[in-house]
Parts: sequence; structure tokens; C-alpha cells
Amino acid sequence: MTPPATRREARAVHLLTAESAPVRHGRARRADWIRLAFAVFAVSALAVGGAAALTAALVAPALAPSRSVAFESKAREVPVPLPQPVEALPAPTLIAAPALVDVCANPAFVAALQAGDDGGAIAAAGGAESFRVAVASGTASCVPLADPDHLWVVVNKARPFDPVDYLPAPLASPSGLRGIGGGDLRADASSALADMVAAAATAGAGEIALDSGFRSYRTQRSTYQRQVSAHGRADADMVSARPGYSEHQSGLAADVTACTSSCVGLESFAGTPQQAWVAAHSWEYGWIVRYVDGKTPVTGYSPEPWHLRYIGRELAAAYHDGGWGSLEEFLGLPAAPDYLD
Ligand code: DAL
Ligand code: ZN
Repeated sequence: MTPPATRREARAVHLLTAESAPVRHGRARRADWIRLAFAVFAVSALAVGGAAALTAALVAPALAPSRSVAFESKAREVPVPLPQPVEALPAPTLIAAPALVDVCANPAFVAALQAGDDGGAIAAAGGAESFRVAVASGTASCVPLADPDHLWVVVNKARPFDPVDYLPAPLASPSGLRGIGGGDLRADASSALADMVAAAATAGAGEIALDSGFRSYRTQRSTYQRQVSAHGRADADMVSARPGYSEHQSGLAADVTACTSSCVGLESFAGTPQQAWVAAHSWEYGWIVRYVDGKTPVTGYSPEPWHLRYIGRELAAAYHDGGWGSLEEFLGLPAAPDYLD
């Protein structure tokens, strides 16, 4: 038998052992019962305490390895490593969201709109981003998003021209660049393209030419029909707009290409220095790349790195700064992957 560890344990064991308890009477016997109860309590407490200590010793390393290692290190006189400073978190960037303004209740905005002064209207709205927020939030019902006379017009598979044979005016031929497939542009877009092409040449990006600008309803009908004849209707619909649905009819779209001595076809424009420059800088001249990778479910067309759309410098800067990938999303309009008919 294991000897009791302490005097208290020895006393308790002694009281619990039958042959060591003499016959007693009255107060003496009651005192014995009290001692016996105390002894039982003391032994139980010791047993529970010991078990808890043993459990803690076994379980603690698994639950708190670092503390356990620290205690072990201390026991072996190994210095405990000091806590390392936490790397500072980057300061958050706060971007001020423009206040939602009721542009249609602003007389200066409405006056500019009626005068056909798109730049003036955008300025009256508090700038391009304020204008965009007002339109995208649906609180600018006076802004005609379907009117092709305005820079912000959205034409897609769900938004044909009205009238379907709309003709823009005035048209102009951009100066200082080659025009391959013909086609003028609306006068403001025309001078903006000339500026962009000159800037690309100055930057050393090479020569950019205009492959195709304005296309009438009739021209688009034959362009689309050629695609249908060559590839079938479903494939044609991914690369060519049906007549009455092409941005080219607005005079605000330009297919551009790259030239050295000769100019490459549109399908070879991707990967040229000119294409890289256009992707990075066309917005500075009011142009956006309209059909980009990843936005086919929104625009309804395969990527076309050559198809630029003029929306003016203010809106193009907001489009670029916001990292937008489609005009539909920029202005809060529904995606248009398919024709409605
Ligand atoms: N290639 C574009 C989608 C057009 O025909 O307008
Ligand atoms: Zn195009």
C-alpha cells in the first residue's frame, strides 16, 4: 500500500480505517463524525486537485504550444524571444464620393442640354463623375441617353437608332492620318482623333490610321450581310452590328489600325505598339476602347481593341479613373448581350 503523502492525508486514512476507530459515546462520538466528514472532504479535494494538475500537464502543450514552449525555455534557462513589432498597416485611401445632385432641377444644366452643349451640361452637373452618378442612379430622367446627337449616347443590341437611318452632322475627315476604309467622323470626334494620332507618333508609338469611321445604315447593312454570308448569323452577331445598331452610324466610332510602311488588318492590331498605346492613352483624347476582354456578356460583342468610341475628354477621364469596362455599366444601363427580337 502507498504511504499517505501528507500529515493531513495520514490523519484521514487513520480515521477511515475501521480497526483504528475505538468505541466512543455522546459528544465524543459526534466529534468523531465531524472529523470523519472533514477527512472525507479533505481526501476528495486532494484527489480532485491532483487529477486536475495531471490533466493540465498533459493537455496544456496541445492547447497552447507557444506558452508551453515559453515555460520550457524558462526552465532550461533559454532566453524567451521578445515580441516582434507588428508591421504597420497601409493607411486607408479615402475616395470622396460625389454627392447625388438633381441635375434636372438645375437651370444651368437644363439650359446647356437644350443648347446641345454637352460639355456645358457636364460642367453644370459638377463634373463628369457627378453627371455619371446622377445618370447611373436613375435620377436624371431629363438626360437623353438614346439621342445620338449627344456624346453620352448608348447604342447596343437593345438600343437601336431612332430613327433607324439616323445621320450625324457635321462630319469631317480627320487630318494628318491615313484613312483606309473611308469614313469621316463627327467634327469633334474627328479633331480629337487627329490629336490622339499625333500624340501617339510623338510618343514613339508609331503610326495609327483610321480604318473605318462613320458608316450609314445602308453601308452597315452590307457590312453585316458580308459577315453573315461568310460565318453565319450567330457568329456575325458577335463581330458586326446589324444595320441600325452600329455605333459607327453615330459618327462617334473609329476603327483604328497600326501602320509601318503598310497598315495591318484589324485582326492584327492586337499586340502592336500602337494598340498598347491606344489602350493606355486614348482616354486622354476623349476615346474609350468600347469592346474589351471580359465584357462580352454586357456588350454582346467579342473584344475589339481597334474599335474606339468618342465620349469627350471629361467623360472619358471619369471612365478611365473609375476603371470601367463598358459604357453600359458606366451609365447604369442593363447589359445587352442579345438582340431583343
Ligand atoms: N463591330 C462593331 C460591333 C460594329 O459593327 O459596330
Ligand atoms: Zn468598329
